[in-house]
Parts: sequence; C-alpha cells; structure tokens
Amino acid sequence: MSFKKMKELANGSIIPRLGLGVWKAKDGAEAVNAVKWALESGYRLIDTAAAYKNEVSVGEGIRTSGVPREEIFVTTKLWNADQGYESTLKAFDDSLNELGLDYVDLYLIHWPVEGKYKDSWRAMEEIYESGRAKAIGVSNFHEHHIEDLLKEAKVVPMVDQIEIHPTLTQELLRKFLADKGIAVEAWSPLGQGKILENPTLVEIAKKYNKTAAQVIIRWHLQNDIIVIPKSVHQDRIKQNFDVFDFELTEEDIKQIDELNTNERLGPDPDNFDF
Ligand code: A2P
Repeated sequence: MSFKKMKELANGSIIPRLGLGVWKAKDGAEAVNAVKWALESGYRLIDTAAAYKNEVSVGEGIRTSGVPREEIFVTTKLWNADQGYESTLKAFDDSLNELGLDYVDLYLIHWPVEGKYKDSWRAMEEIYESGRAKAIGVSNFHEHHIEDLLKEAKVVPMVDQIEIHPTLTQELLRKFLADKGIAVEAWSPLGQGKILENPTLVEIAKKYNKTAAQVIIRWHLQNDIIVIPKSVHQDRIKQNFDVFDFELTEEDIKQIDELNTNERLGPDPDNFDF
C-alpha cells in the first residue's frame, strides 16, 4: 500500500498523520526535549493543550529545534473552565502567548461542556476567520454533541480527537465522523502503554520484527486515524515514528479490531465532572 504521511482536512489544511502527544510531559526540560527529539526524528505534528500546562516548553522546543515554524503543525486546546464566547477569545490569546507563536494550526474544544460549547464554537469560528488558527475542531465529542453543534455552526469542525486504541475502537463514531468529512484523531492511541504486552499484538509485532507500539500505530494509520502517541523518551519517540517501512495485512487488522472491549481509560464524554 502506498501510504501518504499527510492528510488533507476538509478546509484544505494539511495535517501529518503521525505526531507527538505531550499530555503528562512535564513543563521544562522533559517537554522541551520531547518536542526537540520528535522534530529531529521527523515528526511535524505536536499536540498540546492549555490543560497540559506545558505550552511554554512546547514553544521552546519548537523554537530551538531549528525546524522552520511553517513546517510544523501545532495543535492546542481550549480548557473547560475557559469555555464561553469572551473567555474562549481570551484563552486562545493566552495559549498563543504561552506557546510564543502567532498562530496555531489547529485549535480544539477539549471537552463538550454542556451549555457552553456552542458559545465557545462561535469564538472559535472568529479565531479561524482571523487566520490565527488555521483549522478548528473538537475533542471528546460524541455523535450527538456534533449534531447539536452543527445546528448553529457556520464552520463544520475539521477534526474530532477522541480516545481510540485497540481496546476501544469506536467504529460507529469513526464512521459517523468520516461521513461528515470530519477527520478522526486518536488520543491515548497506545492505550496509555497498558496494552503493549497483549499477546495478539506481541505476536503480530514479532512477524514484522517491530514492537507492539509500532503495530498499534500502524493499525491507526491504516484505519485513516491521525495518531499522536506520547513519549518523553528519545528511543521510544524515534521508535514510534519508525513505522513507514512495513504494512499490516487485512487479517492483522481484523485480529486487532477484535481486541475491542469498549473499555475507556478516560472519562465518558457524557459523564465527566471537570
Ligand atoms: P513514556 O512517556 O515514559 O515513554 P498513549 O500515547 O496511549 O497515551 O501512551 C503513552 C504511554 O506509553 C506513556 O506512558 C509512554 O511512556 C508509553 N510509551 C510510549 N511509546 C512507547 C513505546 N514505544 N514502548 C513502550 N512504552 C511506550
């Protein structure tokens, strides 16, 4: 299978299909180094959030990497406490300040806060129109949240970033999003590292002389899912990007699909209290 490393979003923005996630990467040397090592290894997508409290270090990693800003796709997210029209505009300015950037490539509503996400979206649309976010989207939105948002939205979200890994495959939501032209992005794509010993994954990995992490990343890519594994270790960051020289068969993919148990590692977007 010829494989494209980039994907076009509905508005024409080009997003790398594989990036670095930095949830839980500590602000300071840990996050700065993770970003620098990723960019050195060929990554061009970095996914952070105001809530991760490491935007300053992400910005520093980008600036000190030597990779031109325009080659890097930077995502950040609006935190729940900042939802609402005016507060979204302010939170976005704060994120740009923390990152030390004058635009981001993608700005996401982090969680569907009831009664607020539509006002937040109006502000996101303005930010998008101003060019300071090249694309906008949502995260942790179920089908019904998207349907509700679309009743008033002028701009259809370009991305929905949701929890997906081999034990939570989200096939129905993925199909719904694909039909709407909304790109699917996975958080905790490796199941937070908890499924790397799974015998099915280990067996498939052996066949290709790869690791279970690499097999999972490939499963996402071959399912047209944008994937942002997190690591703060240089060897793993490199390893997780070394996935473009092998291909899973349909049978491998089917076996991995069958690991689905619909179990979440994070909260259900219909029932979160933060
Ligand atoms: P660390 O950051 O210490 O390297 P997810 O992206 O699903 O949230 O998974 C991230 C978790 O998996 C982190 O705990 C990370 O640890 C670990 N991890 C990431 N890549 C690998 C890898 N290639 N091998 C083993 N563990 C990994």
